[in-house]
Amino acid sequence: MPLQASSKPECITQLYKAKMPPKGCALLGLIGHPLDKSCSDRIHNAYCQTVGLPAYYGKASVTPNTLADFLEQAKVAGLTGLSVTMPLKEVILDYLDEIDPQAQSIGAVNTVLFKNGKAIGYNTDGIGAIKAIEQKLNQTLSGKRIVIIGAGGAAKAIAAESVKQGAHVTILNRTQAKAKQLATKLNCAYGPLTYLPEVLASGSDILVQATCVGMLRAHSLIPAPLLTSSTLVFDIIIQPAMTELLKNAQQQGCPILSGQAMWIHQALEQYKIWLGDTAVLDETALKSACQAIFNS
Ligand code: ATR
Repeated sequence: MPLQASSKPECITQLYKAKMPPKGCALLGLIGHPLDKSCSDRIHNAYCQTVGLPAYYGKASVTPNTLADFLEQAKVAGLTGLSVTMPLKEVILDYLDEIDPQAQSIGAVNTVLFKNGKAIGYNTDGIGAIKAIEQKLNQTLSGKRIVIIGAGGAAKAIAAESVKQGAHVTILNRTQAKAKQLATKLNCAYGPLTYLPEVLASGSDILVQATCVGMLRAHSLIPAPLLTSSTLVFDIIIQPAMTELLKNAQQQGCPILSGQAMWIHQALEQYKIWLGDTAVLDETALKSACQAIFNS
């Protein structure tokens, strides 16, 4: 039976609006702002329905100003967990009761678990990216040379996890100071974006495009002639799946990986955190839900 209107805490109304979850479902959702373009609620719900997981996923527009209230209400309302997106991934660290050490070292949280009245923060972006890459390569990242373009939240998570897995990481960013800050923390190489030709010429196993460039228009920061077929090219952009960079890379004969693969793996990691042993982890079903909705 759906929740009654009179018993709805504000955070529940915000998350699920008119479409209340059936009783007994684990309450999940996405917070951030703006969320109008996000279709992750539709993907998660399609997945849960397909695999018979009693969970329901909503989305609520939450800003840094409303975050503290939302989290307090969410604890009381019995939420199981949340995904966290822009602009909250870093600011949320100040409002959590506990933070997983890897999320703390990345400095960003994309997943919250509510447990025993506490809000606990995790980051599954890095591990999601690494799992997608390792699956594509059919090898671990240990000893691989990875070049990461960007030094924002996504780049931080991927770089930290890559270093943890024993890869040799080089961070290149438009603003060199940010690359330096990140590289110093992780003890890896860095430089401005203009170093890209010489870094790629010296040989790399994996090139990760971790900026938003290519999302809104067909444009790539990496000139096609720099790409060689021995390098796996991974673009974190989710939509479009085939960015300008990936099209160029494919033409150059490179193996390619889209942000959708990372999204699927980071979401599977979230289900493990939220639902533990009761999680259903069906990569094929999540991939189908993802493709059906992104391509619709
Ligand atoms: P996210 O948290 O999603 O990773 P972010 O923190 O805003 O996003 O970081 C965006 C990254 O994309 C940054 O590395 C940014 O470079 P700067 O540090 O120089 O700002 C990079 N970026 C964004 N637009 C860019 C552009 N047009 N050219 C090169 N780099 C760009």
